[in-house]
Amino acid sequence: MNFSGTIKELRSRLGLTQMELAEQLDVTFATVNRWESGRNKPAAAAMRKIFGFCRRCGLELTEKNGGFQITAVKEDPAFSEREEERISKKKALELFDTGLIDSFEVGTFKGLSQIHAFLFGDIYDFAGKIRTVNIAKGYFRFASVMYLEAALAKIEAMPQDTYEHIIEKYVEMNVAHPFREGNGRSTRIWLDAILKKELGKVVDWSRVDREDYLLAMERSPVRDLEIKALLRAALTDQTGDRGVYMKGIDASYRYEGYSSYKTEDLSER
Ligand SMILES: Nc1ncnc2c1ncn2[C@@H]1O[C@H](COP(=O)(O)OP(=O)(O)OP(=O)(O)O)[C@@H](O)[C@H]1O
Ligand SMILES: [Mg+2]
Repeated sequence: MNFSGTIKELRSRLGLTQMELAEQLDVTFATVNRWESGRNKPAAAAMRKIFGFCRRCGLELTEKNGGFQITAVKEDPAFSEREEERISKKKALELFDTGLIDSFEVGTFKGLSQIHAFLFGDIYDFAGKIRTVNIAKGYFRFASVMYLEAALAKIEAMPQDTYEHIIEKYVEMNVAHPFREGNGRSTRIWLDAILKKELGKVVDWSRVDREDYLLAMERSPVRDLEIKALLRAALTDQTGDRGVYMKGIDASYRYEGYSSYKTEDLSER
C-alpha cells in the first residue's frame, strides 16, 4: 500500500478525522491532507511520530513490498497502560535514588520539564515538551495553547517563600497543564521539590485520599482553600525517606487510575 492509503486506513481504523489525526501527531491539517492526497510523504521526524502514535494505539506499522501494512498488536489493550506505569514508576524511583531530582531546577517550568522528560522519555516523543493541542477535563479546559508559553513564564516568576504561595503556584501550574499527558504525576513531584527546598517538608501523598484530592483540585482554580488544607494536613519532614517517597508515588499514580505495580516491587536494590 502506498503512503496515502496507509494514512487513510489508519484514520479509518481509529475513527479519526484528518484534523484529529493532525492534532495527535502535532502536525497541521494541511500536512495530513497532503499525505493523503499523495502530494507529500512524511519526513523522517514525522514518520517517527506516526510509528509512536500507532504503538500507543495498539497498532503496528510494518514495511511490506515497499509500502506499509497496519496490524493490531496482539497484546491486550490494557498492556500499554501497564507498561507506561511500570516504566515511568521505575524512572520515578530512579529520580529519587540517584539524587537527580536534587539537581533539577526548583519551581521553574524547566525543572518540571526535566522531571517529565525523565519519567516519560522512553515512552512519549513529547516528553518534556510543551503541548500543541488544547486539552480539557470534565468541564474545565486547561490553559489555551495560544497563551501557554506566556502563562508558564508568569508562573515561574510566582513567589514560593511560604506554604500558601507554593500551593498557589502549584494550582496555577495545574491550570497550565503544559504537557499532552502525565501532568498530574510530574507536577506533584515538582511540588514536592519546591516544598522540600523552601520549607524542608514534602507531602505524604499516601495520606491524601484520592476523591478528596481530585475534588479539591477540580475546585482549586476557583477556590484554593480545600487543596491548601488537605495538603497541609499531610505534610511531613521526612523528605529523604525512601519508603514515604515510594508510597507517595503509588498514591500519585492511583489518583490517575494506575495501580498495577507497587514502586517498591520495581526496586532493584
Ligand atoms: N477538572 C479539573 N480541574 C482542574 N484540575 C484537575 C481537574 N481534574 C483533574 N485535575 C488535576 O489534573 C491532574 C491530572 O489530570 P489529567 O489526567 O488531565 O492529567 P494527565 O496529563 O493525564 O496526567 P497523568 O497522566 O499524570 O494522569 C489531576 O491529578 C489533578 O491534579
Ligand atoms: Mg494521564
